[in-house]
Amino acid sequence: MMQKTPIAVLISGRGSNMRALIEACERPDYPARIALVLSNRPDAAGLEIARAAGLQTIAIDHKPFGKDREAHERKVDAAIRASGAEIVCLAGYMRVLTPFLVNAWNGRMLNIHPSLLPAFPGLHTHEAALAAGAKEHGCTVHLVTAGVDEGPILGQARVPVHAGDTPDGLAVRVLEQEHVLYPAVLLDFIINRYAE
Ligand code: GRF
Repeated sequence: MMQKTPIAVLISGRGSNMRALIEACERPDYPARIALVLSNRPDAAGLEIARAAGLQTIAIDHKPFGKDREAHERKVDAAIRASGAEIVCLAGYMRVLTPFLVNAWNGRMLNIHPSLLPAFPGLHTHEAALAAGAKEHGCTVHLVTAGVDEGPILGQARVPVHAGDTPDGLAVRVLEQEHVLYPAVLLDFIINRYAE
């Protein structure tokens, strides 16, 4: 049996990228296993998917913490550490992080973003790409640093923008690529870049 690096996947909703990571991790030759799926939203649909896959899940609702985002993150960080995870994959985790969590996982936290960064950081990327008349759009996996959607790029996948594309149609085509890109980049990261 190969050594699989334990990872935590952080979600807030649907969890389709998490599902792609689950499926990759189920392959015997894939170098990661999921030690924990964590959501800041107790009702995230992705939690059900993770439970059905037999994974350990936890919901840590951010709402009781009010404006104290770091206090919430300290609970999140403790849960990740308790799981034994060594790498954190943000997969639709819709929280802006404080320096506490960014620094705690410096160089070991990845995020997937639905644009070809540095173009279109933030929300509503598909609308923004269409409004800008972009000929090409796509997705990026990057290391998480203090600036939102600014960390070093680990990999990108491109999709052409067609005449008459709608934000929703474009989102579907980008999402297909996200599901291929994230497991591929995580594999490369673990094999080639991640040294304990
Ligand atoms: C994806 O588009 C991802 O790039 C962005 O949020 C969305 C999450 O979707 N960060 P899902 O929960 O993985 O289905």
